[in-house]
Amino acid sequence: MLTTTVLKTDPSHIDEKVILSASAALKAGELVAIPTETVYGLAANALDAHAVEKIFIAKGRPQDNPLIVHIADPAGLSLCAAEVPESALRLAKAFWPGPLTMILKKTERIPGIVSAGLPSVALRMPSHPVAAAVIHAAGLPLAAPSANLSGSPSPTSAAHVFDDLNGRIGLIIDGGDCGVGVESTVVTLCGDTPRVLRPGGITPEQLAAVLGGIEIDPAVTKPLAKGARAASPGMKYRHYAPRTRVVIVHGSLAEFAALLKSRRASGERCAALCFEGEEALVGRPALAYGIAGDAASQARKLFGALRAVDALGAETVYARCPPREGVGLAVYNRLLRAAAFQEIAL
Ligand code: TXA
Ligand code: MG
Repeated sequence: MLTTTVLKTDPSHIDEKVILSASAALKAGELVAIPTETVYGLAANALDAHAVEKIFIAKGRPQDNPLIVHIADPAGLSLCAAEVPESALRLAKAFWPGPLTMILKKTERIPGIVSAGLPSVALRMPSHPVAAAVIHAAGLPLAAPSANLSGSPSPTSAAHVFDDLNGRIGLIIDGGDCGVGVESTVVTLCGDTPRVLRPGGITPEQLAAVLGGIEIDPAVTKPLAKGARAASPGMKYRHYAPRTRVVIVHGSLAEFAALLKSRRASGERCAALCFEGEEALVGRPALAYGIAGDAASQARKLFGALRAVDALGAETVYARCPPREGVGLAVYNRLLRAAAFQEIAL
């Protein structure tokens, strides 16, 4: 059992002492949880297989699920990727630093444990000032998955990280709440056409505007077919899931409220995951995640709400469906996994 220290810094007035503590721990092969613009990451020196192994142990993460390598500037691309296609340079120019991860053919420099034995590596340059400062100070590429226990919702605050990893890691840097709230968009450039494996803060529409043609992996909105190989190993695991059963409901607010009323009348202990201001209409217990029609606010609030769902004491929580375009596709993708693909249409 480790003693977990939490050091706080304001992202707009960075405390250099906090950054130095983080970089010293990383250089010594330890784990540090850091804020990024998407979710908190659990970082280790990506070039040190022994340090990276600690990530899998602390999270209870399956060994076959590869990690994203975080770099400080686009020059890191050619250090970690064996080939840097024109499309990668265009995407880096348009969206880095920011919530976009590119999958490219990896170099020998990246240990096999980082990529879970795959010939490719996932690369991202985060825009969060604290994450950027830590990578700069460490002078290393950092492997970092989301800083949650495997299977639970990704952490969007230092308190979420502490709830999951207290005693399992030595240091958490608290830089406040994450601005995007869902993980980065993952796009692979290893095939003939760029393909979105995980939707996120950078939308398919934005990618298409830079690249022309893009594909969206069917596993973004559909369960993986039995026996099929996941393009992104992370997509095959149940994710973001509270213990309470989650069911996504397609329909109007009035239809949603009527469904909850009838289920409660039939004796089901159910709760609502709705949008702000809808609680009174849909009846309590209810929990809101963001504003109706505003996918960015839903993205910021979803994981915090999923962490709070079990405390409602319901058997089933019925969730309002987010819009499925733009950042809404990422919100829908995470909610689908939390719901183990259970949906009803009214
Ligand atoms: O926003 C984010 O991406 C956050 C922050 C901390 O940067 N990180 C994050 O990491 O969400 P993680 O490990 O929770 O999710 C990484 C996803 C997984 O679904 C994994 O399977 C996929 O990226 N991935 C990583 N390397 C890959 C590779 N070489 N090929 C295909 N998928 C890969
Ligand atoms: Mg994760």
